Amino acid sequence: MEIKKALLKDYTSLRVGGEVDMVTVTTLSELVEVVMLAKKEEKKIYILGGGTNTYFGEDLDNLLVIKIYIKGISFEENKDDVFVTAYAGEEWDDLVRFSVDKGLWGLENLSLIPGTVGSSPVQNIGAYGVELKDVFVSLSALDMTTLNVVEISKEGCDFEYRDSLFKKEYGRYSILSVRIKLSKKSSPVLSYKPLDSLLTQENLTASIVRDLVIATRIAKLPDWKIYPNAGSFFKNPIVTTVEAEGLRASYPDMPQITHQKGFKIPAAWLIERVADMKGVRIKDLGTWPNQPLVVINYGSSSADDVDRFTEEIRSKILLETGIALEQEVNRIG
Ligand code: EPU
Repeated sequence: MEIKKALLKDYTSLRVGGEVDMVTVTTLSELVEVVMLAKKEEKKIYILGGGTNTYFGEDLDNLLVIKIYIKGISFEENKDDVFVTAYAGEEWDDLVRFSVDKGLWGLENLSLIPGTVGSSPVQNIGAYGVELKDVFVSLSALDMTTLNVVEISKEGCDFEYRDSLFKKEYGRYSILSVRIKLSKKSSPVLSYKPLDSLLTQENLTASIVRDLVIATRIAKLPDWKIYPNAGSFFKNPIVTTVEAEGLRASYPDMPQITHQKGFKIPAAWLIERVADMKGVRIKDLGTWPNQPLVVINYGSSSADDVDRFTEEIRSKILLETGIALEQEVNRIG
């Protein structure tokens, strides 16, 4: 275990970030040791998973980035269900593939989401009508304020759409492992397009669903290894019923999806139709032509460049509709 200088643009899928002190830990005791050292040196800690939902500034002198490389996946079964414990350093999609290959249901819609298991609860990852919380049981984490390992239940994680306790109490916990419950019984979720095309399919397997999710993601979303990006840059905003009515009057074709707190409006639609910024590129930043919610770094943009570009989108939409888009990707430093 050694603290080294690293260039964060090499560790983030958006390829944005300056030089920082970084250390990789492979065990809990190493993690505790590093956290104690950071406290002694009065450094701030940032726990980095796959770096697929974060970009960094340049002024990072007071930061220590910890990359969690604690690995392992274990399965425990009863008659209908299988409990899976996956350690934080596993790649999320390895866990999905492993589970689907065993014929288990529950993770197939969450195929090909970049990032690690340890970061999956932070933003309660979701796709095609399923969120992590739907299969989640509990997790174990290091409370970095007390240095105790704590077990946090699903209720304790306070999951919401792209949100959790770990965003609200940012910097307090380092997630060590996640426990989820998968089903041996066929339990597909096919409400979301284009998975509804499988509704009439006989002998459907989780693997067939996974294959369609993968094909859909590949067709719509850019591969960050070729086009650096951090997935959806903004959350889909939720507006009240009254606001939704007003918006419908001005934009009769605006998609509005019912939600327990009102209506969810696709941010991609707002970027395309209201901001008129679908597939638009300004210098080295642009929105992806097939899914404008994804911001691409085509060159060597800085965090401030990203902020300026995305602020342009945000301010146009705010001015026209009164909707304030909330950023989904984390900016540090
Ligand atoms: N739309 C447009 N123009 C476009 C693309 C989409 O107007 O060019 C509108 C359409 O009305 C479409 C709607 O946006 O029906 C929704 O688009 P899509 O199904 O692609 O999903 P999304 O809401 O934009 C969310 C997640 C994605 C996830 C997909 C699929 C968020 C912030 N994003 O995107 O997650 O893959 O659903 O379930 O909730 C991520 O978080 O990084 C991510 C990629």
